[in-house]
Amino acid sequence: MGAALVGWFEKNKRTMAWRDDPSPYHVWVSEIMLQQTRVETVHSYYARFMKAFPTLQSLADAGEEVLLKQWEGLGYYSRARNLQKAAKTVVSEYGGVVPDSFEKLVKLPGIGSYTAGAILSIAFHKPFPVADGNVLRVLSRVLGRTDDVRDEKTKERFEKELKAYLDRVALDPGEFNQGLMELGALVCIPNGRPKCTECPWNALCEAKRRGLEEALPVISPKAEKKVEEKTVLLLYEGEKLLVEKRSGRDVLNGLYGFPSAEGELSQNRLSEAVSGGTVKKLPDQRHVFTHKVWNMHCYEVKVENFGAVSGRVFGLLYGTEGTPASYRLVGKKELEEEIALPAAFRKWPLFGSET
Ligand code: ADE
Repeated sequence: MGAALVGWFEKNKRTMAWRDDPSPYHVWVSEIMLQQTRVETVHSYYARFMKAFPTLQSLADAGEEVLLKQWEGLGYYSRARNLQKAAKTVVSEYGGVVPDSFEKLVKLPGIGSYTAGAILSIAFHKPFPVADGNVLRVLSRVLGRTDDVRDEKTKERFEKELKAYLDRVALDPGEFNQGLMELGALVCIPNGRPKCTECPWNALCEAKRRGLEEALPVISPKAEKKVEEKTVLLLYEGEKLLVEKRSGRDVLNGLYGFPSAEGELSQNRLSEAVSGGTVKKLPDQRHVFTHKVWNMHCYEVKVENFGAVSGRVFGLLYGTEGTPASYRLVGKKELEEEIALPAAFRKWPLFGSET
């Protein structure tokens, strides 16, 4: 059964840069990028990242702002921070050599059983499973299982079974695992009819036999995301735009963003705070995170001298929390080249541009 899958994978696998030289570092970075991000999107980010940080040591040594700028657009910035934290640990604890032990890998920040399994199987050819969404779907169908794949216990059960299988068979675990993921991505697809005529497991698929290809896997509905109201300011002093480093308040902690308040602030209160400046309402925007949604009310504010009104503006936005630890007025070029601006804040045209 596994041999048919590996044979299919050899013939049908897509070209991916990290497959050309699957070193532990390459596999690790690619798998972190591939979490929550499509393969097509990852290609260019991966190439750029490897140019900037060709070795684990160079990643460990990188400045945080440079690292986050490289990650800009991929989102979920804690992935980049954890990756670097873990790289530093590999340098200090393991002499810069990625460990080939499951226990050591899962102790590193950002590495769970999935990433550890990918590194161990693809880079070290060791018998450890990967159970991502694609794999859980393929297995649910081929084995005819009706367990909820959103349940952590289902994943753990499949991981156990896969581990036992990989321990027993004489197959390259990396090829088998990538074959499973690739089958899920290309043939046993999530939305719409799976392409069963192209499947190497067609003849033994339990879902197919019972006509359940599209009914499986069973996935419980997601919890409703909480909607949070925010007010965001695009505040200009002449040709410069105010950005601040966000601290401790929410999901984008530690990244740059525009000054923003909880809830919806009225135009009147803002106008008062920037006495003499202009305040214009911009269209509301939504940004969807993994667990929440921001409904953003936005104002474009123009002032002549930010220093003269900053106390009142920050007081209005943050109350007793006061002034942010770090804020800057930046020009267009500086923003583009130096500031990693999360997608949540890239919803409005900036600097009067039309796009
Ligand atoms: N998705 C995430 N990692 C993958 C891999 N190594 N091969 C195919 N699809 C993937």
